[in-house]
Amino acid sequence: MSKMNIMWVLLSLASNLEWPLRNKIKFTMEGQIGDLEVEKHVQYILSVEKRKDNFESVVMEHLRMNGAYWGLTTLDLLGKLDMVDEDEIISWVMECQHESGGFGGNVGHDPHILYTLSAVQVLALFDKLNVLDIDKVSNYIAGLQNEDGSFSGDMWGEIDTRFSYIAICSLSLLQRLDKINVEKAVNYIVSCKNLDGGFGCTPGAESHAGQIFCCVSALALTGSLHHVDKDLLGWWLCERQVKSGALNGRPEKLPDVCYSWWVLSSLIMIDRAHWIDKEKLIKFILDCQDKENGGISDRPDDAVDVFHTYFGVAGLAHLEYPGLKAVDPAYALPVDVVNRIFFSR
Ligand code: FPP
Ligand code: ZN
Repeated sequence: MSKMNIMWVLLSLASNLEWPLRNKIKFTMEGQIGDLEVEKHVQYILSVEKRKDNFESVVMEHLRMNGAYWGLTTLDLLGKLDMVDEDEIISWVMECQHESGGFGGNVGHDPHILYTLSAVQVLALFDKLNVLDIDKVSNYIAGLQNEDGSFSGDMWGEIDTRFSYIAICSLSLLQRLDKINVEKAVNYIVSCKNLDGGFGCTPGAESHAGQIFCCVSALALTGSLHHVDKDLLGWWLCERQVKSGALNGRPEKLPDVCYSWWVLSSLIMIDRAHWIDKEKLIKFILDCQDKENGGISDRPDDAVDVFHTYFGVAGLAHLEYPGLKAVDPAYALPVDVVNRIFFSR
């Protein structure tokens, strides 16, 4: 048995078997698909966090909380979370909280449900959910539920199934799902289901793999996956794979590394991940790396960013690329972090 195969067997045994995909993927790592530049990606993420003068840091200023979640989760999946100053990050996260209980994208920025989930996820990564006033945060989230079961993103009222997912995921991590009307939340998500088996951002809106991830995850987290036609949706999702092996988010759109996450997570949750060609997808993700300076881009030779670096690495984790921690497709957190929340108290 080759060195790589031995490592493979050990990793499969050690990884969590909760989701049906694990142990089903069979591909060989014979060197032809190239390597993940772990050290360079770690250095890239640490450099984005430190530098305040480059383009990416400037455009990320208002959504720094999301950036922190993407970057830190990548480090954790790579086994390198100990390279950051945990205390400094926790106190910055808490500085972003408002009196309402919600979190802003940075200090002094308005609260939004998008940043609130990222804040909860970052605290979960460091096993620091205990610093939160759980009722305060969950009351903020529950207060965004509308009469029809949908969720607004903030006080200004935009409605989107992304916000339904975020509310359900955050409250589930905080173990406060009882604060909302789950039945109405599920009914609203089901009202966004289309005839092609997919889901959109509001009732009647076209199916989109990002929204499908949100709706399928929210249904999974509430034990409501029976509302999904798994074969029909599985067919739509695996149709997203184009010749290069990459995935796109909708018919006729360009493929993009981040859909390795949105599509694959959804396929895993409905037990249809074996319908795509995994070796080709791994090769595509690895081809999107900046092998010199680290980071992963949306497509080969484009500029890298933290968002695509995270979803590239998380996609590879779903594909059981050696050396990566397993990632939970619904909570979008390493499986050991999720297990610590639910099984260690
Ligand atoms: C594509 O966006 C992705 C989505 C619509 C889903 C976004 C989901 C969230 C923000 C919820 C939080 C997610 C996690 C993983 C915790 P896009 O604007 O790039 O779409 P486009 O490719 O059509 O431009
Ligand atoms: Zn993308």
